Amino acid sequence: MLKHLFFSSFLFFSSSLTAQVFDHMLDLLKESPYGFSMIDLAITAEDVEDFHSIDIQKEYYYQQFGEIEQTENKIADFLSGIGTNERDLVERISNRLAEMANELVEVSGRETAWIHLHAFIPTSFFDLSNWHIDGYYYSITDPSELVYKFVYTLQGPSTLFYPLPKGKRKEVSKHLFDRNYMHTFCSTGSAIHSNINQGVVFLAGKKETAALHSEPPIQENRLFFSVVPCSKKQLEMLKNKIVKFYPK
Ligand SMILES: [Fe+2]
Repeated sequence: MLKHLFFSSFLFFSSSLTAQVFDHMLDLLKESPYGFSMIDLAITAEDVEDFHSIDIQKEYYYQQFGEIEQTENKIADFLSGIGTNERDLVERISNRLAEMANELVEVSGRETAWIHLHAFIPTSFFDLSNWHIDGYYYSITDPSELVYKFVYTLQGPSTLFYPLPKGKRKEVSKHLFDRNYMHTFCSTGSAIHSNINQGVVFLAGKKETAALHSEPPIQENRLFFSVVPCSKKQLEMLKNKIVKFYPK
């Protein structure tokens, strides 16, 4: 079945390889019992070398609400601001990330997106993991609409995901705000994370299906990229919510 879906996507999608991969990734998400799908993004060895050579001097984040035609320039400004990064390197990476964002918006059939880049320097804050599910980034009118976020870690440790079986959801939801309990609960199971070649898309919103995840322990520099596709109307709601979380 999965094979069938995969090749169907290839047959009917005439766009780039990234678009084909995202199309397949969203198919897998719809079938996932845990609310996330992890997929090989066809990242090249040259990409990896570029991503690993980004210099990060300080913790800094960047938020973009819509204006996706400006993504490449805005990401380039961000990367130039976080450390000593040569222009060629910055241009290659911002081009690659803008391609990911644009293709995801197109494949998702939505109009725009919230784009987020976050550079970290080592911190002990996530040594005790921070297991949680993301609530709704915006309101939905159609209950069948999936609210999801794509994440990719360019450098450093990637986000942890916990394959939480349906039968355990109720028990876990009672303890979701108890960080120590959740840390212990998820340590005894099999938390998984993507490697440098993989991106992850996960469900937010509905607590029965949203993916359980945590920032990883951050003992080295980390650069994290995420994209939430949505409509222009939803973007306004999302912006109001997010700005409260990330006061400038
Ligand atoms: Fe989260």
